Amino acid sequence: MRTQVGIIGAGPAGLLLSHLLSLQGIDSVVLERRDRDFVEQRVRAGVLEHGTVQTLREAGVAERLDAEGMVHEGLNVRFGGRTHRLDLEELVGRCVTVYGQQEVVKDLVAARLEAGGDIRFGAEGVAVHDIDGERPRITFVDGDESTELVCDFIIGADGFHGISRGAIPGLDEYERTYPYSWLGILVEAPPSCPEVVYARHDRGFALHSMRSAHVTRLYLQVAPDADLADWPDERVWAELHTRLSDNEGFALTEGPLLDKSITPMRSFVATPMQHGRLFLAGDAAHIVPPTGAKGMNLAVADVRLLSHALGGYYHDRREDLLAAYTEEASRRVWRATHFSWWMTSILHKSPGADVFDDRLGTTQLEWIASSRPAAAALAENYTGLTYDRGWSYR
Ligand code: APR
Ligand code: PHB
Repeated sequence: MRTQVGIIGAGPAGLLLSHLLSLQGIDSVVLERRDRDFVEQRVRAGVLEHGTVQTLREAGVAERLDAEGMVHEGLNVRFGGRTHRLDLEELVGRCVTVYGQQEVVKDLVAARLEAGGDIRFGAEGVAVHDIDGERPRITFVDGDESTELVCDFIIGADGFHGISRGAIPGLDEYERTYPYSWLGILVEAPPSCPEVVYARHDRGFALHSMRSAHVTRLYLQVAPDADLADWPDERVWAELHTRLSDNEGFALTEGPLLDKSITPMRSFVATPMQHGRLFLAGDAAHIVPPTGAKGMNLAVADVRLLSHALGGYYHDRREDLLAAYTEEASRRVWRATHFSWWMTSILHKSPGADVFDDRLGTTQLEWIASSRPAAAALAENYTGLTYDRGWSYR
């Protein structure tokens, strides 16, 4: 088999890149280890930055997003029993859209298949070869058949646990872990208020978000080694009621659980994001803790750059854009890494934290609640930095 760009992983990064390339007349094949159903049902975060929405619109895959996505012009920060609303639109002239990551994935899979795109679900034993040369190859097992895909470029969009990153020699990795995880539930119940609520409480962080007018998404800070078996539904609800309460009458609506899972918290950055003809995108190269919901937005930003750079290569034989990929992508990656770390550290309660630590967190929240420049800084990062250039080379 032969293609121009071989893409490993059918998450948001791999699928969107394949789509953006096809709009520029560049062929790709996407190799995905899991089946289609698994990829489309995986529950992840759901806050899209302004620029992510724009990118999906420009790429023609935002019809359902525009119909069903919930535009949020503000967000709430809750601490000390009070709720402070940040008016994102008024502060920075941009908002975010709440729309589940798996819905984006469904829309991208549908768009690729409708356009005749080649996605191989259930591809086993994916391995990359000859990335230093001009004809890199990917080998994999498709059904029972060993297959070789010869490419011009390989994109490792295979997430944090993928195989691509390991193929880059001399990679530097920077990592921070956090002394807590998030327990997330998806609930069949209308949201208890129209916008996202980030709550800092003495018992730990809690988050109220949503997926639709009928589905609420809630998270709780739990111990890093927490076991779902220790968190029966009644305990989850009791903790959510306590941590999300305020002195202003907030009442949390309960409902049947549709999903329950624990997400570890990690910051991770690998560099460089390229070696020879192999490029990393999305979670394969970097992970942020979910506070602030930057993961998918960073994946989109990476593939915008790659789409533009590969367009430059195929249309004008330009190598400079590809060579600049790590440096350009890293700027946004480190900004989001800092922002996610900062949001995490001011909203969570570390085990063993003393009064000094607590006051460092609450003074930041008080500052955001009382100072317009502080609120605007949060809002600018939350709604996302603007892009330097378009996703398309021409
Ligand atoms: N071979 C083929 N596919 C693989 C392999 C492999 N060896 N390893 C992993 N994959 C697939 C996974 O099954 C997954 O579908 O690669 C895909 C990677 O997708 P994501 O994990 O969704 O990563 P990415 O596309 O970078 O999107 C980043 O996802 O994890 C969230 O918070 C993160 O929202 C962010 C977004
Ligand atoms: C979500 O809706 O899943 C969500 C919202 C905000 C976050 C993280 C996740 O910061």
